[in-house]
Amino acid sequence: MALKHSYTLLAPIYDSLVSGPLDAYRAKSLSRIKETTNKKILINGIGSGLDIPHLPDDARYIGTDITPAMLKRAKQRASVGDGKPSLDISFQLADSQDLPFEDKSFDIVVMHLILAVVPDPALALQEANRVLKPGGNIYIFDKFIRPGQLAIVRRMLSIFIRHIATRTDVVFEDVLSSCPKLEVTSDEPALAKGWFRLIELKKYN
Ligand SMILES: C[S@@+](CC[C@H](N)C(=O)[O-])C[C@H]1O[C@@H](n2cnc3c(N)ncnc32)[C@H](O)[C@@H]1O
Repeated sequence: MALKHSYTLLAPIYDSLVSGPLDAYRAKSLSRIKETTNKKILINGIGSGLDIPHLPDDARYIGTDITPAMLKRAKQRASVGDGKPSLDISFQLADSQDLPFEDKSFDIVVMHLILAVVPDPALALQEANRVLKPGGNIYIFDKFIRPGQLAIVRRMLSIFIRHIATRTDVVFEDVLSSCPKLEVTSDEPALAKGWFRLIELKKYN
């Protein structure tokens, strides 16, 4: 609940904090998505919709988020300004840890800066896996510490900021181990000497 309140306060300034250096990686992450015609794509934790200008036009999208103020901005972005008025996108309030969708209902799930934000990243990945069709992909852009990495400052920092903005102590490999049907098909270092990573997962039968 605290995250929802802090993102309500952050909503008016979120774009100025997060766009800029992250934009190139966001674009690179989404450029990995191929063959999108008629595909159903979940933009999980869409925030203010900074992904929207980079999304291919020929798919159907649902953007979810837990914070109404962030979703409102995403809706505005989709309809005017630097958005894409032609995009087939709808929006829904939803918790990434308890998605209101049927099993196997999406071809692709995008998770940009959400897995390391939610209180329980393993649960959020399990939910993404549940709603993903076999053969589908999950595209992640986020910050993770490596298994065995000391990262004392980031682990300490996380204690203070996890309730208001993001976790900084998430080990991706620990999160992934809760989803045996998901396999890493690519994992590239991005910003901050590889603290941020671009990860692609595939769901097997
Ligand atoms: C760092 S922002 C990332 C937004 C967007 N994906 C981006 O790349 O800019 C984190 C977002 O997660 C949302 N959020 C926090 N907890 C959530 C939850 N449990 N379920 C869904 N969204 C959540 C916040 O409201 C916020 O919009």
